[in-house]
Amino acid sequence: MTLLQDLETRLSAALAAVLGEAVPATVTPAADLRFGDYQSNAAMVLAKQRKTNPRGLAQEIIDRVDLTGLATAEIAGPGFINFRILPEAFAAKARELLGDPNLGVPAIGAGRTVVVDFSAPNVAKPMHVGHIRSTIIGDALCRIARFLGYRVIADNHIGDWGTQFGMIIHGWKTRLDHAALDADPIGELVRVYRQVNAATKEDPAVLEACKAELVKLQAGDAENLAIWQECIEVSKAGLEKIYQTLGVKFDHWLGESHYNDRLPGLVGELLAKGIARGSQGAICIFSDGTKQPEEDPFMVHKEDGWTDNPAIVRKADGGFLYATTDLATLEYRIDQWHADQIWYVVGVPQTLHFRQIFAAAARWGKTGDFRHVAFGSILGEDRKLMKTRSGDNVGLVEVLDEAVDRAARIIAEKNPDLAGDEAAEVARIVGIGAVKFAELSQNRLTDYVFAWDRMLALQGDTAPYLQYSSVRIRSIFRKLDGAFDASGAAIVLEKDEEIHLARLHARFGELLPLVLDDFRPNLLANYLLELARAFHSFFEACPVLKSDEPVRASRLALCELTSRILVTGLGLLGIRCPERM
Ligand code: ARG
Repeated sequence: MTLLQDLETRLSAALAAVLGEAVPATVTPAADLRFGDYQSNAAMVLAKQRKTNPRGLAQEIIDRVDLTGLATAEIAGPGFINFRILPEAFAAKARELLGDPNLGVPAIGAGRTVVVDFSAPNVAKPMHVGHIRSTIIGDALCRIARFLGYRVIADNHIGDWGTQFGMIIHGWKTRLDHAALDADPIGELVRVYRQVNAATKEDPAVLEACKAELVKLQAGDAENLAIWQECIEVSKAGLEKIYQTLGVKFDHWLGESHYNDRLPGLVGELLAKGIARGSQGAICIFSDGTKQPEEDPFMVHKEDGWTDNPAIVRKADGGFLYATTDLATLEYRIDQWHADQIWYVVGVPQTLHFRQIFAAAARWGKTGDFRHVAFGSILGEDRKLMKTRSGDNVGLVEVLDEAVDRAARIIAEKNPDLAGDEAAEVARIVGIGAVKFAELSQNRLTDYVFAWDRMLALQGDTAPYLQYSSVRIRSIFRKLDGAFDASGAAIVLEKDEEIHLARLHARFGELLPLVLDDFRPNLLANYLLELARAFHSFFEACPVLKSDEPVRASRLALCELTSRILVTGLGLLGIRCPERM
């Protein structure tokens, strides 16, 4: 039970005693520590309903509530009840957390299955730095949800089917450089795709040739299918390398093509159920008129008022679309994996698409909790969309390489003792960690500015600062003669700085579930920064190794708990901690 839950339980008991009936009490963390740790507006809400004086009711509640060993309470303002947790309660909590592998985090997801749909690049189209956001946010959400007890299925829904294959197959047959393909498969496929794409704009004959290749592929032509298959395989191998660098894993790679066979039947079913209907030769899902137009994803406002905005599921030429595949995918995840929830980590521009998919799924009777976890763009330091000098989108691989290079230079300067393989490994951990943390400490919806110096600063709101904090704690333990066993240590909290550190330890289990309320890994990121800052203040104010027992063991135990929460918390963001740096 978290401290907050403990307070709520005791407050509810007091409310029942005062009011003679069961009313649930809610307690929230206080906005400002000067007023205490937690706060409840229960007296104000209830006094309003009962038309009595809120301060009077608050006083009655305080007189009745049993806060023994937990907190003190006082009335503030018009009838708030403020709670201040006792140092002994923080100490007891710290003791409990030291013996808890979950560090006080409740298993709120137990028994629930969530599919996380993230990364999902398109084969042979350049994977740009925007894909990094989906990959990093999605991976963090998977890790956090797993830690909270969910059964998590990470699915990479790659774009492995679609009109781009007309161009790729044409390019494969006419201008592929096989040596280049071996050396850098994705690079070569992208090169071919770009060249052909440019050529189609100059020469209508090339465009026709591409279309013909696409038709053959869709008709099941053996040669084209084999080329397509090989493109997928080399692309997957290339992507795997990037994911390995990032430490990202998927349970499945069910790309768009996996659902091809299901599409005709699905459209037939939508027609039969009256969810879709024919329109100018195509088959579309229109509004069913049950929603206000403002809420209806199948309506759009144009100059002359609200008009239809259907989702096309089959084109007049018989081709299927992105929406068709997504409906098949959603069905598969519910039927085959028994998903209760699906989280789609995809950029803001696809908002309408997902609103339509979720609305269509509901009409189709596919129930579940479906969320579009949207994110904004990455901007260069000039606040424009990030581009290379030649005007292309910046590639993910280049970004990661540069991060590692820059980290290597910083580490060589800071700690010349590190060398060879260890230095290289630390540079990888720090460089990649910095990129991930810069992403995850932002509100996902804001466009974020990619600034190297800011994300790599050792003193700043950065991964290197957190990693450095964890290294610093480890170095304390290296100075000990033997291993330190925190399980036997009594916790004594005297100084404000150590009380505050223990306060933050207790908060971890309260905070982590909130991250999933609105998919905000930045809550965790900011909490970790606060924890690290609290640790540094503690370490300045409270001697650890030089103090006498039992304070020494208590402080060492606080160091240990801090380190475990830091390392675990960073791990939940997909960021590793080096032993030294
Ligand atoms: N391949 C798509 C893109 O790069 C993203 C797919 C997201 N997932 C989905 N189920 N639609 O835009």
